[in-house]
Amino acid sequence: MPSTEAIRDSLRAVIDPELRRDIVELGMVRSIHEPEPGRVDVVVSLTTPGCPIRAHFEKGVRDAVGRIDGVKLVNVGFDVLSPEEKQGLQARLGRQGGLPQGALAAVKNVVCVGSGKGGVGKSTVTANLAAALAAEGHATAALDADVWGYSIPRMLGVHGRPSLTAERKLVPLVGAGGVQAISIEFFLEREDQAIIWRGPMLHKALRQFLEDVHWGELDYLIIDLPPGTGDVSMTLAQLLPQAVFLVVTTPQPAAQKVAGRAAETAERFELEIVGVIENMAGFTTPSGERFTIFGEGGGQLLADELDVPLLGKVPLQEELRAGADEGRPLVLTDPDAPAAQALFHAARGLIAATPQELPVLQAPSGHPAAPPAAAVTGTPLPMAP
Ligand SMILES: Nc1ncnc2c1ncn2[C@@H]1O[C@H](COP(=O)(O)OP(=O)(O)OP(=O)(O)O)[C@@H](O)[C@H]1O
Ligand SMILES: [Mg+2]
Repeated sequence: MPSTEAIRDSLRAVIDPELRRDIVELGMVRSIHEPEPGRVDVVVSLTTPGCPIRAHFEKGVRDAVGRIDGVKLVNVGFDVLSPEEKQGLQARLGRQGGLPQGALAAVKNVVCVGSGKGGVGKSTVTANLAAALAAEGHATAALDADVWGYSIPRMLGVHGRPSLTAERKLVPLVGAGGVQAISIEFFLEREDQAIIWRGPMLHKALRQFLEDVHWGELDYLIIDLPPGTGDVSMTLAQLLPQAVFLVVTTPQPAAQKVAGRAAETAERFELEIVGVIENMAGFTTPSGERFTIFGEGGGQLLADELDVPLLGKVPLQEELRAGADEGRPLVLTDPDAPAAQALFHAARGLIAATPQELPVLQAPSGHPAAPPAAAVTGTPLPMAP
């Protein structure tokens, strides 16, 4: 019979695809039993009960343990990490990549806009929502975390290269409506330069966007995520435990399901989901006829499922697309347009759902106090190879 240690060792081959570490290192192996010769029972602890990668773990454990000599049957069970265990997991992840305390000390709210699925209007929503928040009198910035498909510069009509403060912090550029912006585009040699970063390089760039930028006093930092639940979302979740997640979906069931997965990922990291925005919710012709091109009801369904508010239903409107292409957000050029009204509605809903004071930062015991801003020495942003 193999030893428990040998079995545990074999489980190091089972990698959590999102956290990119093995389940032994992550402390997710709850128990290993050999009730009879040739049979091994393994219990894996998940971060949430509805963990979508259950099947991945089940197969991984079966394959890894099944390869050991003498093992004929592998049973895989699941339970859920306790809140304390989850905290321990986050601390372990955070140690390797958390922001220094105080990096965003004057930012009241960080809102990540994500969807899971591409092309549903995350960037359009980010740009217009940021402009609407600014128009409502809130100091707002937009961070373009989509390093492969960056679109915030175009949508906010802002291009150029940020300058540096005396403390060597990057000064965000100011786009439409006074929204401050940072995007990878500002650091490229050519506008159409392809970015091939992944993993550590990407992590480093995003970290610098947060840490080495002089964000100053902000009511809202809105982060435009790339599609999917991949590297960027994970990095941000690690770096920004205080962030909330805003889910954009189209009304069709398929998109809503994918958005649900993105939300589930956010929940795994205990990022609070602040609400859902349904985009491309019907098209009304000039004569008043309405077509539900992308179906109907997906936003409400997802909001109900997640038990969060549906902050807005943004209709398809050509002017919203044209304004995004021209760097003039529709909420500024025609605030009475139906799509603009829906986005203002969402902005007000977000304001109502988020605190208007700075979060109280508590230094976890054992952590040194935050260094003064001037003492943080910034390394220059990595340039694309
Ligand atoms: N409600 C709408 N009405 C008309 N056009 C829209 C609407 N929402 C988004 N669009 C347009 O659809 C296209 C895709 O939108 P956008 O780039 O915002 O999506 P995304 O989710 O950020 O995409 P990606 O996943 O590639 O980052 C853009 O041209 C945008 O202007
Ligand atoms: Mg986008």
